[in-house]
Amino acid sequence: MKLWGGRFTKETNKLVHNFNESLSFDNKFYEEDITGSLAHVKMLNKVGILTDEETKSIEEGLKGILRDLNEGTLEFDPEYEDIHSFVEGVLTERIGEPGKKLHTGRSRNDQVALDMKLYTRKEIDEVNELIKNLLETVYDIMENNIDIIMPGFTHLQKAQPLTLAHHAGAYFEMFKRDYLRLKDCRARLNYCPLGSGALAGTTYPLDREFTAKELLFDGPTLNSMDSVSDRDYLIEFMSALSIIMMHLSRFCEEIITWNTNEYRFVEIDDSYSTGSSIMPQKKNPDIAELIRGKTGRVYGDLFSLMTTMKGLPLAYNKDMQEDKEPAFDAIDTSKGCILLFTDMLKTMKFNKDVMRKSSEGGFTNATDAADYLVKNGVAFRDAHGIIGALVLKCIELNTNLSELPLEEYQKISPVFKEDIYDAISMETCVLKRNTIGAPGPDAMKEVLKINKEFLGNI
Ligand code: ARG
Repeated sequence: MKLWGGRFTKETNKLVHNFNESLSFDNKFYEEDITGSLAHVKMLNKVGILTDEETKSIEEGLKGILRDLNEGTLEFDPEYEDIHSFVEGVLTERIGEPGKKLHTGRSRNDQVALDMKLYTRKEIDEVNELIKNLLETVYDIMENNIDIIMPGFTHLQKAQPLTLAHHAGAYFEMFKRDYLRLKDCRARLNYCPLGSGALAGTTYPLDREFTAKELLFDGPTLNSMDSVSDRDYLIEFMSALSIIMMHLSRFCEEIITWNTNEYRFVEIDDSYSTGSSIMPQKKNPDIAELIRGKTGRVYGDLFSLMTTMKGLPLAYNKDMQEDKEPAFDAIDTSKGCILLFTDMLKTMKFNKDVMRKSSEGGFTNATDAADYLVKNGVAFRDAHGIIGALVLKCIELNTNLSELPLEEYQKISPVFKEDIYDAISMETCVLKRNTIGAPGPDAMKEVLKINKEFLGNI
């Protein structure tokens, strides 16, 4: 069943039909297709192309199809090429003559451009709801762990002590940018391509402002060739999803490390872990690993579409039908990952004592020891050398800077006094770091306030 049999003398070869069809996957946006058609019909009536009677009949027919598809009483017929032909075909079957007028002043090129935009817009909103939920979860971790000290790492080596709130806060900033990136993408895509025709607009007096408004766009697109061949918004969306996945996979990597026997910083809840078929003792962080793994898949989807679009001449080319499967895959995969990650995070336990103990090893207070000297008049470069030598001494004596006797300190520099121990305690190291963005509690409270306001406004 085709929309274009007129100029053909032969039936399409079955293999060609199967190769060409998109109904098996573009049925995903049947609702958007029908919503777009309803707006188009309303506009055709407004400008006098369809009578009231025809309009009513088409509208009722379309709504009936939507209802039956929603209820599962109407099935997609694989004889149709795509969702657009299917809806028009069923409509005409059901209401007769008026159904044949639905496509007046429209091409499947502007129709599919519209459907994809409507679908993408809806999905952006859904992804951002999930991100909002994730942000709230991370915010709770921040708020509840302002004074939980843990080591911070560079090169995966212990560097300086900070807090769990501060570490979580780094991810809050990443997910906040993700949220804003999606909002930007939504604003940029929100112009309606309907009425662009196949590529050159139409001679009918279509009211493009009207359909744009009906479909909650900010206005009509301004170039009909670009309208039918633009998939930038999808690429932007998939790039934003790829960045979200990158953030999730970095967090997952940390959780996987923290969950090892060697670290034991966290305990992933039983309901988000899996066992081994052979090793009875195992409790594996499969969910975190799978999210890390699926990141590659979403990148692949993005690159698939980028490559499809590369070098395409204007305007519509059938290559563009290949936008759908990778886009749907990237969207569904990312949504599943954000949802599961949030739940895993909500149920994960932090072993605060282990984190604290770990922060005491690895000379994480060496920088503060050097700063102590600087505050007592020693040049920083000299202080760096003195503390380096003391660290070496500690390694030799199998101790750390907090437990090294004062006489050892004084052997190297007379500047050291009893107050050195206070200056390099884990508490001091963290408490005194209060420039905005640092882990100190005053700075952290300020950031929490700003972020609470952000959450209240989204
Ligand atoms: N199924 C097509 C797609 O997804 C719809 C547009 C078809 N247009 C055309 N001129 N063949 O891109």
